[in-house]
Amino acid sequence: LTNHLALTPPMGWSSWNYFGPDINETLIKSTIDAMLTNGLHAAGYIYINLDDGWQRYKGRRSSHPLEVDPVKFPSGMKSLADYAHTHGFKLGIYSGPGEKTCAGYTGSAGHAREDAEMFASWGIDHLKYDSCCSHASAPQSEVQSVMLDMSTALLATDRGIVFHACHCGWTDIWTWAAEIGANQWRIGQDISDDFNYPGNREKYYFDVLDMLDRGANLTQYTGPGHWNDYDMLIVGLNGESKQLVGTGASNVEYRTHFSLWSIVCSPLLIGSDIRSLSAYDLATLTNSDIIALNQDPLGIPAELVAEVGETQIYAKEMADGSMGIALLNRGSATADVTMSPRRDLTIPWDVYKMRDLWKGKDLGPYDIPFTVEVQPHEARVYRMWKCAPA
Ligand code: GLA
Repeated sequence: LTNHLALTPPMGWSSWNYFGPDINETLIKSTIDAMLTNGLHAAGYIYINLDDGWQRYKGRRSSHPLEVDPVKFPSGMKSLADYAHTHGFKLGIYSGPGEKTCAGYTGSAGHAREDAEMFASWGIDHLKYDSCCSHASAPQSEVQSVMLDMSTALLATDRGIVFHACHCGWTDIWTWAAEIGANQWRIGQDISDDFNYPGNREKYYFDVLDMLDRGANLTQYTGPGHWNDYDMLIVGLNGESKQLVGTGASNVEYRTHFSLWSIVCSPLLIGSDIRSLSAYDLATLTNSDIIALNQDPLGIPAELVAEVGETQIYAKEMADGSMGIALLNRGSATADVTMSPRRDLTIPWDVYKMRDLWKGKDLGPYDIPFTVEVQPHEARVYRMWKCAPA
């Protein structure tokens, strides 16, 4: 099954990481307005995804269909979708295959068709269909069947709706999700607002390095139209999320997190309050050279190609024949990282030039391995081209 959508990873904003279920129409409209003036829309962030908490009812479905909370969204969802579309955005919504969603709202259980038709009639463009809680310990075949029901129901509507089959990494959904028409699926549990917090995983939450490591063995499953989802971004949460655990990360760590999500081709869904982003975070999120790594049409995710001590090199091929490279220092001491095209990237480039994507500076040509000092928790990110010998 395929809807031919999401040929590059979806980019946008999601309400969950900062606001949790505390969302409403004024917030969403002011987020849209802010993204138009602060450069995020121009940088490619077009999905405005409402996560859990838009629904009117909690608990099991009785005779009620799903309804929009009339207090939070007095003008209704169709009107909000119109607002998004008029301003050049797309609107996403959330439901799940259980009787209840993770936050206890009424789910779509047994009503996939009816709900898909309703979402389409509202003008919805993206659905996160979340089985994290309702199907946490369900057999794989059952998760597969409820996801297939919704995927089929969405395809039967007259709208192209991007399908996020969310299962929090409880089963290896990545092995079959693309086949049933999913465009993205989470590879792990909920992210926390932490770069590297030992002990998180035992407490259910993942941090940035946990998610990176989980994805490293799953790169074969990602590609145009079907993406490993490393979870929504934490850039700019600064430990102030109303929803996520975690004490926050530094500017450098948030920038590293964004670099890594970009180079592995994860969807880029900003999770913070757009209306109060710092200039530094906006510069992080709108770096067009970094975004180009994520949105390259080949959709090849970076692989871990070399590891020395606590430093790692990730590299990906780009459509123009260049390479995207991230030199990551996971440790707490400054480290020199050396990258050699022949040894680390196994490409026979004797002469090459680079662009430092965070400094915005062109470097080289070089005909020797490239060495740079990388700060603790920093990623230096480059794009590299083959050169003819002088
Ligand atoms: C789960 C998901 C989160 C969010 C919440 C909503 O925890 O993993 O991303 O959607 O449910 O309740």
